[in-house]
Amino acid sequence: MGVDLQSLARIPRHVAIIMDGNGRWAQGRGLSRLEGHKEGAQSVRAVLRAGARAGVEYVTVYAFSTENWKRPPQEIDGLMKLLVSSLDAYEQELHDNRIRMRVMGQFDRLPLLVRKRLQKTIDATAGYADRTFIIALSYGARTEIAEAAQRIAEKARGGKLDPRKIDEQTIADHLYLPDVPDPELLIRTSGEMRLSNFLLWQLSYAEFYITDTYWPDFREEQFFQALEAFNRRDRRYGGVKP
Ligand code: IPE
Ligand code: IPE
Ligand code: MG
Repeated sequence: MGVDLQSLARIPRHVAIIMDGNGRWAQGRGLSRLEGHKEGAQSVRAVLRAGARAGVEYVTVYAFSTENWKRPPQEIDGLMKLLVSSLDAYEQELHDNRIRMRVMGQFDRLPLLVRKRLQKTIDATAGYADRTFIIALSYGARTEIAEAAQRIAEKARGGKLDPRKIDEQTIADHLYLPDVPDPELLIRTSGEMRLSNFLLWQLSYAEFYITDTYWPDFREEQFFQALEAFNRRDRRYGGVKP
């Protein structure tokens, strides 16, 4: 029995996902961690399709964190190569569903080959306005906020901004993708109850959905189940029930 999408009263505009558990998925099957990442790449494609079917406008996936640079060089290299080889399949899916791809994070830290391949898909899908797929790469929320603070300070020093006027909107306007609305739903796979430095500012009022399912097993149906759970949440934003 699948989830009936028609029965869902609210579809979040923006869903953010911490794709976790590739390594454990592989380990449980006696496979290499990279095999887990490969299977996880299939889940990204499935979620792109599912998001489009459900009418979600923005899907953001955490693909590589600033902390992930600490992993063994062979794993990092494998992940970067996998990203390059997966982009052909992603691009097909993006065109089929008219989805624009954007990247958030320290773009310059990525290997040149990866940047070039990403740029090709970014350019090829730049004309799609209704749906967006954001891939967080070498992303860390604390770095993002620190970089925003730097740019705000530069403006204040140049006399372009009055420090007394810095408010929440000023901070939001200086993050990586200021035009993107905050996620309403955060999904984390593989059961871990932490943010791991993902979107600290933007997730301030998001609903959290944590599932024990490992990322490679998270496909369309699991995505729809998360949307169903979101529909059961009572969002009060600090107020009281009417
Ligand atoms: C998520 O899976 C993918 C990345 C962080 C790149 P992991 O590689 O973290 O898998 P586990 O958590 O070790 O199972
Ligand atoms: C979070 O997963 C980062 C990504 C999914 C890219 P990690 O596996 O790196 O996070 P920790 O180590 O469990 O915090
Ligand atoms: Mg992990």
